[in-house]
Amino acid sequence: MPRPSAITIDLDALKHNAGVAGRLADSKKLMAAVKADAYGHGLIPCSKALEPLVHSLAVAVCEEAVLLREAGIQLPILVLDGPFDRVDIEVINELKLMSVVHSQQQLDLLLPITDKTAPPSVWVKVDTGMHRLGFQPKDLPDVIAQLNGVPDVVVMSHFADGEDPGSELTRRQLDRWNRLGLPIQDGTSFANSAGLINGLAPACEWVRPGIMLYGAPHQNGQGHELLRPVMSFRSAVMAVRTVETGETVGYGGRWQAPRVSRIATIPVGYGDGYPRSAKDGTPVLIGQTLCPLAGRVSMDMITVDVTDCHDCEVGTPVELWGQTLPVNRVAEQADTIGYELLTRMTSRVPRHWRP
Ligand SMILES: Cc1ncc(COP(=O)(O)O)c(C=O)c1O
Repeated sequence: MPRPSAITIDLDALKHNAGVAGRLADSKKLMAAVKADAYGHGLIPCSKALEPLVHSLAVAVCEEAVLLREAGIQLPILVLDGPFDRVDIEVINELKLMSVVHSQQQLDLLLPITDKTAPPSVWVKVDTGMHRLGFQPKDLPDVIAQLNGVPDVVVMSHFADGEDPGSELTRRQLDRWNRLGLPIQDGTSFANSAGLINGLAPACEWVRPGIMLYGAPHQNGQGHELLRPVMSFRSAVMAVRTVETGETVGYGGRWQAPRVSRIATIPVGYGDGYPRSAKDGTPVLIGQTLCPLAGRVSMDMITVDVTDCHDCEVGTPVELWGQTLPVNRVAEQADTIGYELLTRMTSRVPRHWRP
């Protein structure tokens, strides 16, 4: 019998979430972020499922766009990092990709723009306060002038703190954005999932949700409760034992039994992407019961205190995160965010896509 650990990707939930994003986006066009292997959910199956529901896809780098085109996906694709070199420019031209430009060096790679070389759309990134990438607001008119000949120029920015609706940083970013004096709608894009869910999206042509499509935004807000988790990471109990009071469990003896305890061992570990930083007490769903992690996460196994779980035996189903146990609850206990857990699952775990 194979190891019972696997990931199920619920494509119906993905499509449902795209519908929720579409309703929040209202008249704005929907660009689905599918970078990083669709946040660990599978670039091609997810993009194919999203194809009829969104206006375009966003990837980080040209290599991801190549995979999409090779799979026959015809939707417009935006490369969020923009070109790194001339090879990327050739790919952008050949595959008719939309490209971000965030610096004069990138702009120089694109120039001179001719009828043959003009990308269908160039997205100019403006730094409104994230201070990671982008042109200074004062330089925008000059950048747009240099893009003369590009059929479609979009001005974009990115929220640094959209998860917090009262954020001073968000207020500053929106203030700088508004002072750009851009058209209300055409050729503009700001909001990610947090911007949409928290209702921060200024009037724009495009919205660019990612994490909400996968059902794991880490804030509450409009539409949040309607989203369905797309990835379920499941396994089954491989062993159960009793340990005496005062005995310890796992590497370093971090967890010590406060009473005679039953310990279940599950065949998933950091070699699969379960976070080693998960603390004792991190919830694990054993059968129908949430039980606390007990002891350090090993490469191939975790141990869970099932003393209070009355339906636990070898073979009992386990959910590490998914439909019942939100990935963000696990992430909190591991001092990280759901994004990281979803995107760093390793290839050892089989993935199954449910239509
Ligand atoms: C430029 C840009 N737009 C949109 C997104 C999607 O963000 P989220 O997954 O938070 O919705 C990202 C993700 O990091 C991004 O970098």
